[in-house]
Amino acid sequence: MATRNQPSYRPPQRYQSRHLPFGDRRDAPFYGKHILSVKQFSRDDLTYIFEVAHEMREMVLRVGSFDLLKGKILANLFYEPSTRTASSFIAAMQRLGGSVIPIHEVRYSSVTKGESLPDTVRTLEAYADVIVLRHPQKGSAELAARYARKPIINAGDGTGEHPTQALLDLFTIREELGQVDGLTITLLGDLKYGRTVHSLARLLSMYRVELHYVSPPQLRMPREIMEEVAQAGIPQHEHTYLDEVLPITDVLYVTRVQKERFSDPAVYEQVKDFYVITPEVMARAKDRMILMHPFPRVYEISEEVDADPRAAYFRQMEYGLYVRMALLAMVLGKA
Ligand code: NCD
Repeated sequence: MATRNQPSYRPPQRYQSRHLPFGDRRDAPFYGKHILSVKQFSRDDLTYIFEVAHEMREMVLRVGSFDLLKGKILANLFYEPSTRTASSFIAAMQRLGGSVIPIHEVRYSSVTKGESLPDTVRTLEAYADVIVLRHPQKGSAELAARYARKPIINAGDGTGEHPTQALLDLFTIREELGQVDGLTITLLGDLKYGRTVHSLARLLSMYRVELHYVSPPQLRMPREIMEEVAQAGIPQHEHTYLDEVLPITDVLYVTRVQKERFSDPAVYEQVKDFYVITPEVMARAKDRMILMHPFPRVYEISEEVDADPRAAYFRQMEYGLYVRMALLAMVLGKA
């Protein structure tokens, strides 16, 4: 019975808890789960994701598109610029027969009227089945997930993580070199602000690899991440010059200096041209190795390197489509 101080209105039961749409497989791994950090994956999870991604690749090559996610809707919510991440999520959803609400210009949405991230997320989940979020603030994906009943996929939270990029990076290494165990992997460039290398180093710590970090002294890998990787028993070495490790490197992962994250533009100017990969540099690398970059590249890899078969960065973008198809199918209970 309602008393004077208790409202008698109760929302209908069906809106109080999450109801499962007909046909979703509740037992599917990752069904209804958020993808926020690579820390949430086990090595078995990774094997499973890559198997599904591999199947997605075969299907796309064979039939182009198919209706696995027919009727499902993705909200692509981007508060920061993006070419590859945004368009590959759209392509992934559409190749699986689903559709997309693209919010890439938050300046045309109510965000410019001062709407909070939790409110925007609660709005979009009223219309969509899954939300992909890119945001300039570290921790924003976790914040969004606290409010969301539908899966949130972190597409980059400031200098924090970029888990789907790390998954596609690892998938690229597997598809190109056959396996990850036993490799010497060198991460180069802006290791301080680059979120892709933060997620990648964490993910690689699940494999038997040797890691080398090459950066200007101002842009070293954060201690917090190095400690986590050390706990997994992975050898790590820091360098300022690439020449010290290039001849033994199997995967050279180059990053852009993250101009937008520097509080002092003078520091950016000091470090921006520190490394440039040219054909002369590649001449000192192994014959069997790959050169990767999450892109966009600015000056770090000269265009003359593009014709080198070891330059894997354009193939890497394509692998991203298959990994994102796999992730969408999984969180929506269809893989
Ligand atoms: C990266 C990002 O946004 O973190 N790009 C991407 O998603 N492929 C790397 C960058 O901006 O340098």
